[in-house]
Amino acid sequence: MAVEAKHDVVVIGAGCAGMRAAIEAHDAGADVALVSKIHPTRSHSGAAEGGINAALGNASEDDPETHAYDTVKGSDYLGDQEAIEILCQEAPGDVYQLEHWGAVFSRTEDGRIAQRPFGAAGAPRTAYAADITGHVLVQVLYEQLSRRELKVYDEYFAWRLVVDEDRCQGVICWDLLDGGLKTIGAKTVIIATGGAGRLYVGTTNAYACTGDGMAMALRVGVALEDMEMMQFHPTTLAPTGVLITEGTRGEGAYLLNSEGERFLKRYAPNAMELASRDVISRAEQTEIDEGRGVEGNVLLDMRHLGAERILERLHGTRELAMTFAGVDPIYEPIPVRPGAHYHMGGVDTDVWGRTELEGLYAAGEAACVSVHGANRLGGNALMETITYGKRAGAHAAEWALTHTTVAVPESVERDAERELKQLLARTEGERPWRIRDELAATMHENFGVFRREEQMARQGELIAGLRERYENVVVQALELGFLLELATCMVVAGRARKESRGAHSRPYDFPERDDVNFLKHTLVRWRDGAPELDWKPVTMTKWQPQERTY
Ligand code: FUM
Repeated sequence: MAVEAKHDVVVIGAGCAGMRAAIEAHDAGADVALVSKIHPTRSHSGAAEGGINAALGNASEDDPETHAYDTVKGSDYLGDQEAIEILCQEAPGDVYQLEHWGAVFSRTEDGRIAQRPFGAAGAPRTAYAADITGHVLVQVLYEQLSRRELKVYDEYFAWRLVVDEDRCQGVICWDLLDGGLKTIGAKTVIIATGGAGRLYVGTTNAYACTGDGMAMALRVGVALEDMEMMQFHPTTLAPTGVLITEGTRGEGAYLLNSEGERFLKRYAPNAMELASRDVISRAEQTEIDEGRGVEGNVLLDMRHLGAERILERLHGTRELAMTFAGVDPIYEPIPVRPGAHYHMGGVDTDVWGRTELEGLYAAGEAACVSVHGANRLGGNALMETITYGKRAGAHAAEWALTHTTVAVPESVERDAERELKQLLARTEGERPWRIRDELAATMHENFGVFRREEQMARQGELIAGLRERYENVVVQALELGFLLELATCMVVAGRARKESRGAHSRPYDFPERDDVNFLKHTLVRWRDGAPELDWKPVTMTKWQPQERTY
């Protein structure tokens, strides 16, 4: 195996964060390439529906400071406030840049970018393109990649980071199309591989969302932060987990229980359907658990919005509901339930996307900078991909342009080749899908919206058993190996956080937030084949923790 190519900056992952990082690095003068297991226009960023948050002030008065406050409160005070302030300050300029590149946002009557209300936001702040915002942004960013003629190694499955002399110097990939391992050397590497929602059976995430970048970073000793914080989106379709956008509630849809009651009046009497996602998911799960659900769901009612508005602003949602639930929301409520949606945790980075390993960066859902803390606001994920993708790209390029060498020792390549040969040579054993399905079902059961100590402990044991069985699967599914390690980190961090904060809800043993002992981030590193837990403080600037009600 020889080094296929060398670049200044290699970005792994070609969704919104990866493409935005690549564009910035290129424009800073670096030679840039992207590596992606799927074509960029098929990336999971395209599934983001409802919009992108920036304090443009087009629908009502708004400013970045209010956006930052909402985000800090939404994070249940676990978000790092410096990172949040940067995000909210840079967001308006970054959205206008997307517009200038050709993003076709929906418009106000007087032609400005339209903004809709989203959960836990103090103003209608979510800029949108009907209910296909992620799809629109992916197309625009891909056009910008093409215009710059950036090299994309698509259908390359990134498997191992190359580390030499304590610095990341490239990535070893499996060429899905032609077969064989290929090494791409780089002065800096940016991980932008998205989340790991496939850890759960009910998820909005695409099949590709297997946490590859997080696990690769973990394997070279880099810390993962706040891995216990998996967000459950309140409106996903059963059984597929397909996302029904929060934009529906932004447009005025109601949530009803089996008695036809808008039950949120008992959980979030002011914000109602526009409370934060953790609050609404818990409310729904409580209604379902206490017997006021409808076949394991609650109902999302859009009928009063009228056909014209649904067709103009929520046409994609209508199609999804008709295709996957057989329900036309113009005439009937949609059955929905909480589903795994977004990992607030990820690769620990600073505000330039730097990790603790020199030359290695991360951005987007794969990273934890941390702007979302224990609960992300809808619309902040797309914004983070753009703003922090841009920042990681800028820094990675600057570093690469001032450091001249890339070294990929032959021994690193030989080791990878030997390991892969062993994996492929196995002809007898268990099928990987069995383990994957067991992992996803048990994570849903034991590490879901509500968490119990004994269930988390059982899940830890179950994962250990699955990891043993994984050693003997007939064809090693590399993504499954990644998922199993990440699940281990989640359970270790979740058991250590003995409080309820944001998405981490322990109503049976630690029902309250505990700022005295747990206003801090979990960090998990992989040492000698096992997870090792550590903590780090939350960065506070101007907001002290308050009681959080909606
Ligand atoms: O509901 C949604 O449209 C999802 C948006 C988000 O997760 O930011």
